[in-house]
Amino acid sequence: MGIHKVMVIGAGQMGSGIAQVCAQAGYEVTLNDVKPEFLERGLGVIIKNLSRDVEKGRKTEEEKAAILARLHTSLDLQDARDVDIVIEAAVENMDIKQSIFKQLDEIAPAHAILATNTSSLPITEIAAVTNRPEQVIGMHFMNPVPVMKLVEIIRGLATADEVYKAVEEMTVKLAKTPVEVNDFPGFISNRILLPMINEAIYALYEGVATKEAIDDVMKLGMNHPMGPLTLADFIGLDTCLYIMEILHEGLGDSKYRPCPLLRKYVAAGWLGKKSGRGFYVYE
Ligand code: CAA
Repeated sequence: MGIHKVMVIGAGQMGSGIAQVCAQAGYEVTLNDVKPEFLERGLGVIIKNLSRDVEKGRKTEEEKAAILARLHTSLDLQDARDVDIVIEAAVENMDIKQSIFKQLDEIAPAHAILATNTSSLPITEIAAVTNRPEQVIGMHFMNPVPVMKLVEIIRGLATADEVYKAVEEMTVKLAKTPVEVNDFPGFISNRILLPMINEAIYALYEGVATKEAIDDVMKLGMNHPMGPLTLADFIGLDTCLYIMEILHEGLGDSKYRPCPLLRKYVAAGWLGKKSGRGFYVYE
C-alpha cells in the first residue's frame, strides 16, 4: 500500500507539527482546517520552525523551500478525494471526529487509510461510523511533534494488519519510532502520564509541597525534562481533565478520579500556557 499524498485535518499545534514532519519526509501534504486564519497560524508556526532549522544549519534554504512547496492548504474536505492517508488532528470531541470520519469515508478513495491523532478517544468507536473500519487506525504523535520521537500506533478492533504495517512504515519514514498499542482508554502514553500529573496536582492540593518543589522533585530526581505541573500547563489543563475523565469513565476505577483542583482551574479558565495562566503565569 503506497502512501504518497497525505491530508492532515486541523492546523493547530498537533496538526501543523504533523504536516511539517510529513512534508519534511517527502510527502505531498494538504493541511485542512475550517477557517483561513487557522491555516495561516499553523503555516506560520511551520515556517518559524523551518527557519530556525536553517539558522542552526540543520537545513538549507533550498530544503526549506522544497518542504514548503510540498505543503498545500485546504478549507474543503473534498480535497481528500485523491489522498492515500488522512491524519485527523481536529478537536478532541467524539461527535466532531465521527462527523469528519463519516464524510471522509464518502470522499476519500477506497484504498485510503483514515488515521486519527486522538490522545484518548476509542479508535474502534470512530471506525464504527465508517464502512472501512479495517482501514481506520490511531496515530498518536507527541507534542512538540517536530521534536518528540514517539508515535503510538493504535489498532482499533477491526484494523487490518496491512494497514498497521503501512502506517508503521510511514512512521519510520517520518523519522519517528512507532510503538504498537491496543485500543483501551488513554492507550499507553496517557494511561501512565495523566495519572502521574493528576497525582502531582493532588500533592499540591493536599499541601504536600509547593508547585515548584513538586516540579523540582520530578525534574531533578527522575530526570524528567519538565516537572508534571509545568507539563500539565504545556499540554493544557482542559485536555488533562478531559483525558482523566475518559480514563475514569472508560476504566471505571476511582483511582483515575480527576483532582478537584484541576476541575477548579479549568472552570476558572486557567488552562495553562495557552490561556496565560495555569499552575504558573505566562507572559
Ligand atoms: N516546535 C519545534 N521545536 C521545538 C518546540 C516546538 N514547539 N519546542 C522546542 N523545540 C526545540 C527547540 O527549538 C530546541 O531545538 P534546538 O536546540 O535544536 O534549537 C529543542 O526543541 C529543545 O528546546 P529548548 O532548548 O527550548 O527547551 P528544552 O530543552 O526544555 O526542550 C521540550 C523543550 C522538547 C519541550 C522538553 O522540555 C520536553 O521534552 N518536554 C516534555 C515534553 C513532553 O512530555 N511531551 C509529551 C506531552 S504529552 C503528549 O503530547 C500526549 C498527549 O496526548 C497529551
